Amino acid sequence: MLRTHTCGELRLSEEGKPVTLCGWVHRRRDHGGLIFLDLRDRYGMTQVVIAPEDKEAFAMAGKVRPEWVLRITGAVHKRIDGAARKENPTGEIEVAVSDVDVLNEAKTPPFEIDQTGGVNEELRLQFRYLDMRREKLKNNLVLRHRLLQATRKFFYDRDFMEIETPILIKGTPEGAREYVVPSRVYHGLFYVLPQSPQQLKQLSMVGGLDRYMQIARCFRDEDLRGDRQPEFTQMDLEMSFVTAEDVMQINEEALIAITKELRPDVTIQSIPFPRLSWEEAMALYGSDKPDLRYGLAFRDVSDLAKGCGFGIFAKTVESGGVVKALCVEGGADFSRKEIDELTEAAKIYGAKGLAWIKCAKGTFEGVPVDKLGADLTRSIVEKTKAKDGDIIFFTADSFSVACNSLGAVRADVARRRNLCDPKIFAFAWITDFPMFEIEKETKELQAMHHPFTRPKDTDLALLETDPLQVKAEAYDIILNGYEIGGGSVRIHERNLQKRIFDILKISDEDAERRFGHMLRAFEFGAPPHGGIAWGLDRMAMLYAEEPNIREVIAFPKDQKGKDLLLGAPSTIPEQQIKELGIKIVKV
Ligand code: AMO
Repeated sequence: MLRTHTCGELRLSEEGKPVTLCGWVHRRRDHGGLIFLDLRDRYGMTQVVIAPEDKEAFAMAGKVRPEWVLRITGAVHKRIDGAARKENPTGEIEVAVSDVDVLNEAKTPPFEIDQTGGVNEELRLQFRYLDMRREKLKNNLVLRHRLLQATRKFFYDRDFMEIETPILIKGTPEGAREYVVPSRVYHGLFYVLPQSPQQLKQLSMVGGLDRYMQIARCFRDEDLRGDRQPEFTQMDLEMSFVTAEDVMQINEEALIAITKELRPDVTIQSIPFPRLSWEEAMALYGSDKPDLRYGLAFRDVSDLAKGCGFGIFAKTVESGGVVKALCVEGGADFSRKEIDELTEAAKIYGAKGLAWIKCAKGTFEGVPVDKLGADLTRSIVEKTKAKDGDIIFFTADSFSVACNSLGAVRADVARRRNLCDPKIFAFAWITDFPMFEIEKETKELQAMHHPFTRPKDTDLALLETDPLQVKAEAYDIILNGYEIGGGSVRIHERNLQKRIFDILKISDEDAERRFGHMLRAFEFGAPPHGGIAWGLDRMAMLYAEEPNIREVIAFPKDQKGKDLLLGAPSTIPEQQIKELGIKIVKV
């Protein structure tokens, strides 16, 4: 090694020892004839002092600039009284330097390594290796590493095998667009990058491997958001001979253990994790991933609104829709501007508007009040348990639009009123998902989770007659308003799988072409099995209390899917395009 210690290692107990350190110049200060350098590496920062008596070292130290790479030799000294810095673990010592060796010089970085925040993200992504030298990103990557390590350890200790599955595969349906790779050898044929190793982990169960886990890379060509990347990492898991209960149980244990290890300072809101059916979550909170750190549960006032004098409410109920109410304690002081902004939040999810009633000193204000009349207004106020100083928001629409849009209002209110305590981790399971949903554009049935999800045995009879009523053996794990994982018990019988494909209008030919390998495998003694996948990037984001997942990924894509460091996607040479047998068509 070029060094005897790291820059975070030396303590007073090493006083007098000769040492050699390597690192980057973080700061240089010239003081009363002495030169002080803060030498930095991944492990910490050590102050080194160069006195003019060591002429050569002093001359060299006079030339160094921030981010130069040095190797210094010297002796560990106790800092003089008053100069100790208790906040730095090496703050009680300094190294009196006898030798300064410049290992490499550095240009002035495009942003200060020393400064936290305030740097344009594009620049940080472009110079990610410099961003990594900064405390914040480095700490996030350390935390992510510890998350992976703790996860692996938990499952390895319980007989899970890490099995690597291929990246060049055939399509796997997780609902997003796929990335494709043209084959050079077979012109016109393509590999598809896995949206998840779903089918391969199921095939490993057919292979008898019993307990699989993998820290797996997944690729999805979908619209990006703060909690989505085109390539991301899952803790992917599958188990044989289990029920949904077994999978949830072991995952809950894992999440508790990992949270306690990584964030001993946070409180897990409730253990065992609460469970909400999908329908309850939607009806009460307007989201399938509600933030449960705060209440703000909805009330359904459809029964009261039926036939009322407020046309929008009455018509909605008449046509089979619902009227949902959200009472915000102390919300009567929301300004007109704030209410307008909350209305905009509701409109994103399809609401046509956001009605409200303010309760102040026993009187009620708001558009519906006159139309509803005093008695009905009072009944609604009673049902929502509103008190003086509160506001009640209403959405009236189909169940889905009314709930989702009021859910957006709920989240926005919580943000405005600071109801999201970062020191509380509110995990919960969402269960009993519908097996199918209607795809917005094609209006056709599609699997809500994926087509390998098992319908509840009790609903099997409804599959062909009333598919939208069929619930699945599926579960999501949510944390503070984010879906951090999802899974299900799978279908392991060929015939049932075939029935699902039929309901999804996947023809025999198409089923054979896309999933023939699964149907065939199910003919060879597939065990009952189920599993889950966690979104590790999202978890790292939440554990690091960061606002987006790019902050916990070493080399992320930007919000438009570009790698600003490497410059991907990029053109490739004409020759390569030719070899692949493809043609670029400009549209
Ligand atoms: P699902 O599609 O729910 O399930 O994905 C599991 C978890 O992965 C995370 N996730 C993402 N994270 C970052 N960027 C993305 N683009 C992204 N997409 C998903 C989420 C999500 O909960 N094969 C099934 C799992 C199973 O059934 O076992 C699957 O992939 O946190």
